[in-house]
Amino acid sequence: MREKQDLRLFFALWPDESMREQVENRLRPVRLENCRPVPRHNWHMTLHFIGNTSHVEKNCLHRQAKECRAEGFDLSIDTWGYFMRPKVFWLGCEDPPPALFDLQTDLGKKLSQCQFRPESRPYNPHVTVARKVRQPPEPTLLLPIEWRVDRFVLVESVSVDGGVRYDVIEEYGLN
Ligand code: 2AM
Repeated sequence: MREKQDLRLFFALWPDESMREQVENRLRPVRLENCRPVPRHNWHMTLHFIGNTSHVEKNCLHRQAKECRAEGFDLSIDTWGYFMRPKVFWLGCEDPPPALFDLQTDLGKKLSQCQFRPESRPYNPHVTVARKVRQPPEPTLLLPIEWRVDRFVLVESVSVDGGVRYDVIEEYGLN
């Protein structure tokens, strides 16, 4: 019998409260009309989106993630962008460090020992801050936010009234 796929999961970098505050400050002057802002507590940078999966598969993914031996690194959140098709406004890095791609690639290889197949599209690291943005805001100068990344997390996406809540269910330290 097939396992029930009642978990919706993704792996991500998870900002601490001070990062969230800095992001909020930087976003204050940005005018975003008629859109669906992502609540501050949900901000994250996805590494791998898993989607709906079973508890058995989650255990496999967790075992593999624990084997990931990537180095910690510094990220500078210093730019923003707009994905036209999904109408997503995001913050990201002008020049993402190679260590971020190393982590994403190494984790993807480990996770593919389970039933997961990593995205074939190139990784485009970003923190989505608003959805359904019909018109991207005018470019503004974004003072860089320095983010020391020393862990990644496994997140469960839970549907709640009026949206989604992200629960961090596992944490993995980087070297
Ligand atoms: P997004 O912010 O660019 O939409 C949880 O949904 C996280 O996984 C989001 O950060 C989302 O990216 C990302 N994600 C990647 N692929 C996805 C997919 N096919 N469906 C939903 N979310 C996806």
